[in-house]
Amino acid sequence: MAHLFNRNVLLGVSGGIAAYKSAELVRQLQELGATVRVIMTRGAQEFITPLTLQALSGNPVHTELLDEQAEMGMGHIELARWADLLLIAPATADLIARLSIGRADDLVSTVALATAAPLMLAPAMNQQMWKDPATTANIDTLSLRGVHIIGPAAGQQACGDVGFGRMEEPSIIAGAAANLFESNHLAGKRVVITAGPTREALDPVRYISNNSSGKMGYALAAAAVDAGAITTLVSGPVDLAPPDRIRFLSVQSAEQMLQHCIELLSECDIFIGCAAVADYRPANVEHQKIKKTENEMTLQLVRNPDIVSAVAANQHRPYTVGFAAETNNVVAYAREKMQRKDLDMMVANDVSNQAIGFNSENNAATVLWHDGEQILELASKASIARQIVHLIAHQTRKND
Ligand code: C5P
Repeated sequence: MAHLFNRNVLLGVSGGIAAYKSAELVRQLQELGATVRVIMTRGAQEFITPLTLQALSGNPVHTELLDEQAEMGMGHIELARWADLLLIAPATADLIARLSIGRADDLVSTVALATAAPLMLAPAMNQQMWKDPATTANIDTLSLRGVHIIGPAAGQQACGDVGFGRMEEPSIIAGAAANLFESNHLAGKRVVITAGPTREALDPVRYISNNSSGKMGYALAAAAVDAGAITTLVSGPVDLAPPDRIRFLSVQSAEQMLQHCIELLSECDIFIGCAAVADYRPANVEHQKIKKTENEMTLQLVRNPDIVSAVAANQHRPYTVGFAAETNNVVAYAREKMQRKDLDMMVANDVSNQAIGFNSENNAATVLWHDGEQILELASKASIARQIVHLIAHQTRKND
């Protein structure tokens, strides 16, 4: 069943009698797993109080575009970026008209312009207003722009009229919102993902490591869970909370990571090696803290095992995906690496680009497989992760 786990739904409420149903809609969205924030037009506040929606959503409700306090917290641009979906329910005839011509004269219409997230409207108005050619033309304009329209339903209206104009039922709107996000395309698949750096101990208090934040691997784990996969995340030390509904294994060194990964292979269909595994580890780990007696010191390092290659060479070989961070000839080097490590798919990152990479919130990549490739334009790591998972699902389905 479609769900909204790990999805941020920004619910816009405009001023119609159906606004009272927004309270139930918040609950229905949450039941499907969404995190919900609410923004309201001035008119909406005549029908339902921000306090009600704040209590239900568990988040502050935003009502004003030019509000110093609100802009200091989560301003309209942050809200627009935060949203995975902007759902406006009810959407009045006036708001629909303003959206159709791209007005930005209040918080809701401004966020609608400022967001890259999909927009879904649940119109609600008097049946004659819905039938009016002006509304019809505005709805057509928005539909052509890719806006999703849900409802309205037919029936008895608050004003006594009968016809199309009632806001669709909250459960149906929440279900339609969930259906927007393709889910379950990895249903039942067992996915193992490595993430973060590894730490290679020198002595009890020192280690060699790198700056990997783990964000990409954690985003992949969340995307795999969203897609219905039974997901295990094998993570080096990072500052992130594990996503919900996964099996989580915390490791330090490359050797520990390798051991866990190999043990998991008897129950693994897809392996994604996203960890920045240290290439070398100290040849000896001192049991006591090393003393600084000499002016110079030489560390002897030995090569770490290549985890993703070991997985690809295993008798229980899963569909195996690697990551390649390159600064030049990105695609060519990544393809060569994919062949050398005998991988099924490689995600190539251009790490000479400052906007993406280790600690950034965003990423861009070229995904390669044997007979194809796809460029993923700059987007949040969550969005890139969902696209990668989608490509993996597509490729593995071809192999099934
Ligand atoms: O060879 P390079 O480190 O560029 O390859 C990167 C890919 O190989 C990543 O998928 C990374 O997780 C994996 N890797 C590994 N074990 C290593 C080194 C890299 O699994 N020791």
